[in-house]
Amino acid sequence: MPFFLPPVPALPPGIDRSGKTAIVTGATQGIGLEISRQLLTCKVSNLVLAVRNLPKGEAVRQALLSEPAVKTANPNATIQVLKLDAENYESVQHFVSVFKAEFHDLHLLFANAGIGTAAKELASSGHEKNIQVNYLSNVLLTLALLPTLETTATKTGEPTRVTWTGSRGHKQSSLAGKPSSKKGEQVLKHLDTADALPMFTRYADSKLLCVLFQLELARHYGPDKVIVNSFCPGMVDTGMTDVLPIYLRVPVNAVKAIRARSPKKAAWIALNAAVVAGAETHGRLLGDMAVEEPWEWIKSEEGQRVQKMVWNETIGEMAGMVDLPVWDINGDGMPQ
Ligand SMILES: NC(=O)c1ccc[n+]([C@@H]2O[C@H](COP(=O)([O-])OP(=O)(O)OC[C@H]3O[C@@H](n4cnc5c(N)ncnc54)[C@H](OP(=O)(O)O)[C@@H]3O)[C@@H](O)[C@H]2O)c1
Repeated sequence: MPFFLPPVPALPPGIDRSGKTAIVTGATQGIGLEISRQLLTCKVSNLVLAVRNLPKGEAVRQALLSEPAVKTANPNATIQVLKLDAENYESVQHFVSVFKAEFHDLHLLFANAGIGTAAKELASSGHEKNIQVNYLSNVLLTLALLPTLETTATKTGEPTRVTWTGSRGHKQSSLAGKPSSKKGEQVLKHLDTADALPMFTRYADSKLLCVLFQLELARHYGPDKVIVNSFCPGMVDTGMTDVLPIYLRVPVNAVKAIRARSPKKAAWIALNAAVVAGAETHGRLLGDMAVEEPWEWIKSEEGQRVQKMVWNETIGEMAGMVDLPVWDINGDGMPQ
């Protein structure tokens, strides 16, 4: 990415999602809040804010409903706040069961919640926290909601959508520089146990796993019913850096002040991925509004080996928690 980010075109006028139900994770601030706002002005009928902090989510719900633009565009919108803490699988599973009990349909899922911590911390699952929040919980959420997304697609005759908030920062991953894994060493285990990683690489590692998983998903699961993609909005002026230690926050915020895009523009990029772009984006990361060519390392023999390991390890872990879809056994993304 150039230092000065290129302009972002606004969404085409007239996007109308009335009658649709959408979920946004991490909807309390930053990009997720702005995605929520824009979904409402695009007339989404039911919006579910999936948040870890219920009082904060409730305050956001009330603020959104009282915004003049929302009241004018979508006076009958319903917004529901449901608990989802992406730090643990149980919370994701509980969210899905509550959602399914209340809603029959799901048209749009934005898996957006994310963190970028510098120090090593483990989530209650035993996985490194960035990996759990930014990657593993998104996989579980997506797989657990696939049956609902598929049923809705069948009913409406058009694919439903899953869009993850990704990052071109995945190219800073520690996995790329790593010599071939020791025989038998698993990728997830390695990331959970690695102690001394350079700053920010845990975030990059988590976002690389997202890219690898979606690329492999598209080889096993076609886009006929559900289109799954992700987008990178470039640097965005959000609270994400607030958790950094002061000696990092000050320089990062200085760069942000010059370079970062507004959350509003980031949400244009998000909605482009989820409602404007088509099946050609299935399994792919959009950089701004265009599909990115996968990073050279991913295309290398080692990258492809790691991609398959990540897929197998992740699916192996998910198998104990969710009914997996019938995968395309040829692995070519074509229906069987
Ligand atoms: N900002 C950037 O430059 C940039 C660039 C590329 C990609 N991204 C990605 O954009 C996404 C949104 O980040 P942002 O920039 O909008 O940052 P943000 O302002 O810090 O928002 C993060 C959101 O995620 C929620 N969240 C964090 N941990 C959670 C958990 N364990 N369970 C549920 N929700 C959780 C936060 O909830 P609370 O309000 O409760 O904290 C908040 O709503 C992330 O996936 C991030 O990686 C950001």
